[in-house]
Amino acid sequence: MCGIVGYTGDKKAIDIVVDGLRRLEYRGYDSAGVALTNGEGKPLLVEKRAGKLGNLESALDSRFGSSHSGIGHTRWATHGGPTDSNAHPHLSDDGKLAVIHNGIIENYVELKKELLAKGHAFSSETDTESVAHLLGDAFKENGGDLAEAMRMVCKRLRGSFTLLAVHSDDPKRIVGARRNSPLVVGVGKGENFLASDVAAFISSTKSAMELGQDQVVIVTPSDVTVTDLDGKKVEAKSYEITWDAAAAERGGFQHFMLKEIFEQPKAIADTLLGRIEESGKVSLPELESMADALATDVDRILILACGTAFHAGLIGKYAIEAWAGIACDVELASEFRYRRPVLDPRTLVVTISQSGETMDTLMALRHAKSLGAKALSICNTHGSTIPRESDAVIYTHGGPEIAVASTKALLTQVIALHLFALYLGQVSQGTSGKPSSASSKNSRSTLSASEAKKIGSELLGLPSKVEQVLETVEALREMTRGFKDATSVLFLGRHVGFPSALEGALKLKELAYMHAEGFAGGELKHGPIALIENGTPVIAIMPPLGSEIREKMASNIQEVKARGAHVIVIADTATDIPATDFAIRVPATDELLQPILSIVPLQVFAYEMALVRGNDVDQPRNLAKSVTVE
Ligand code: F6R
Repeated sequence: MCGIVGYTGDKKAIDIVVDGLRRLEYRGYDSAGVALTNGEGKPLLVEKRAGKLGNLESALDSRFGSSHSGIGHTRWATHGGPTDSNAHPHLSDDGKLAVIHNGIIENYVELKKELLAKGHAFSSETDTESVAHLLGDAFKENGGDLAEAMRMVCKRLRGSFTLLAVHSDDPKRIVGARRNSPLVVGVGKGENFLASDVAAFISSTKSAMELGQDQVVIVTPSDVTVTDLDGKKVEAKSYEITWDAAAAERGGFQHFMLKEIFEQPKAIADTLLGRIEESGKVSLPELESMADALATDVDRILILACGTAFHAGLIGKYAIEAWAGIACDVELASEFRYRRPVLDPRTLVVTISQSGETMDTLMALRHAKSLGAKALSICNTHGSTIPRESDAVIYTHGGPEIAVASTKALLTQVIALHLFALYLGQVSQGTSGKPSSASSKNSRSTLSASEAKKIGSELLGLPSKVEQVLETVEALREMTRGFKDATSVLFLGRHVGFPSALEGALKLKELAYMHAEGFAGGELKHGPIALIENGTPVIAIMPPLGSEIREKMASNIQEVKARGAHVIVIADTATDIPATDFAIRVPATDELLQPILSIVPLQVFAYEMALVRGNDVDQPRNLAKSVTVE
């Protein structure tokens, strides 16, 4: 959940480290700190402050400008509140070694006890400080080898961690390690970078290296070496970052979230690019190795994800069942991993994650794999842990999502699920273009060629339809302001509109800090209707013309109106709606694709409500973007 940056090269390290922290601030923003080396044997330059990065920046003096190597941290507190002393870096007793950490050291209590008995003094309540003392001791014991010290210490740690350390005796070297927590290397010319995510160094280099579990990386300005915990060299996988550096900037928008809402047409188009032909045939070469299995050996799909990604899964379920004829269940990753689920090799587990690092999802994936399931992931972040541990991955091409509240990631996840559902239908019919045993048609009920073609062309038309929805943003924002003082907002939907309603409520909770709930229309009279009071805002998503539940939703709208609700209806332009207080019109599309259009106004509603209530839109309280702890 924290953001970590390391730089070693010939530039002014403080500028690069602080700039990297700014780009990673979405990961955690309750305190920040830096430790820079200052020439061999000279004391480290260390500063750390509670609060936003700006507090740290104002505490930095001119001394920090002389360094060319150092580490920086932006924190989301787990152990110990957000105070100056709990902020990272943490130092060894002699102050010569500094370490920063993302994750949780589960055995820190016993380590701390041992260190206290040895006479170490602690100045924070964090789990990380134990690591600083352990590293300091190991460094002395092994005659000054920071990498070896890191390997020795990592073997003693339980839990999840990314660690970066520097030592004043070896000022150009940064040593990092990772277990169940992200760390990427940025490879430059005469300079190298380490960070939780490529956004930190994307404006300096597009060459990156992935690190595996329990690997230690040693960077100097001219070299990157990766070893396992026994010191054996390992070949790290290199890759080019395709994200545009400008994508990680606000680019004239007031907030990243607004920018990302407006990037959705492009994000969808990029995710569809080259993957769907005019005939409706889907091309997903990344699934080729599983195509046979998907055609004949899979009879159940289980989607596991958290938060907004879970809602993407709930929406995708409808397409998988309708277009591919395969049973599909969707479960919260955090719940799944503590059950004893009945899974077998005929279950395909699909994890969905923007970051690819969400701990609950990762642990659920491991749990499913240990029970024999095959695993596919849908992910936005190249080389992250979840896709690395899956049998196959469909990458969404949403580009960096910086705002904590997920927007374009959700729409691209849904698009990826739509592509997957069409692909599953194709392989079942032997029309995937893969001539093998996969061509043996099974008994699943799938789409006809003409239906698939129609859906394919609808999918390809979605980017311009989202553009049309975005043209209504100003009116939407104005309407939203009228509800500034509402105490509760309810969202109603049926069928795919139900998970869309859940997403609308989640966005509002996390951004506007308001009570919000999403309901299935059919459930209203089983309890939730009691919440309706005079003036309660209810946002209802109307199923499209021709849907068998259109009339039912119209009745639900009447029911809440009759009890005094202020109703805002989202409906497509072809559909009649009952008289309402406000109508949001979106272009018409296939019923199963409608969430792509109807969720956009819900995002705008939550954005504007946060703004008008004076909240921090991009960094809402108590949250962090990438939840790498359980
Ligand atoms: C909500 C939000 C979160 C994430 C969830 C999963 O706006 O962003 O609910 O969707 O934490 O994150 P990923 O997709 O990175 O696994």
